[in-house]
Amino acid sequence: MSPKPPYPPFADAPVEELLSAAEIERRVAELGHEITHHHREAGTDLMLLGVLKGSLIFLADLARHIPLPLTLDFIGIASYGDETKSSGVVQITSDISRPIEGKHVVVIEDIIDTGLTAHYLMNNLKTRKPASVKLCSLLHKPDRAEREVSIDYLGFTIPNEFVVGYGLDMAQRYRNLPYIGRVTDPSGV
Ligand code: IMP
Repeated sequence: MSPKPPYPPFADAPVEELLSAAEIERRVAELGHEITHHHREAGTDLMLLGVLKGSLIFLADLARHIPLPLTLDFIGIASYGDETKSSGVVQITSDISRPIEGKHVVVIEDIIDTGLTAHYLMNNLKTRKPASVKLCSLLHKPDRAEREVSIDYLGFTIPNEFVVGYGLDMAQRYRNLPYIGRVTDPSGV
């Protein structure tokens, strides 16, 4: 008997499309142009800092719309809670590989939900003396905000629903969906 595939085909995913791949592509290009425009004077000090793992696909696409010299780095953050709700206890699980002092850092997030993770991270980064630090998030769920977070570059505002795809997961799955969709049946994920 052949083993069951680890994922059902995308067509069977319990997910309803919220943002199509084409919509995402257009908006990511616009964000890239905006970031480029604001960082023309950064010289060789521009750094895109991806928050693992959800920002990975967004960052890969966005970076190709920023035709400036830049470096990429990553930070791993764990926010304790259940699958769909963060608890507010935030911890750095894997730190940036080089100092950010004097750098123009643009933090790349997948989604700002309660804002607890971004609030913690932005405050933490500011203590490391970067030349500037801005926040870029693909998605924002304003209905869930518990901390005020200023998002400098925002892709889309979405309703208070759990979404997956384009890097975002549920129980580590569906990051590779090419679009963003809301989960219609969490038990089917
Ligand atoms: P926050 O601290 O509540 O703002 O949550 C931030 C993190 O929770 C994000 O970086 C995601 O990893 C995760 N998260 C929040 N909402 C969703 C969602 O709808 N889908 C997938 N992950 C989410």
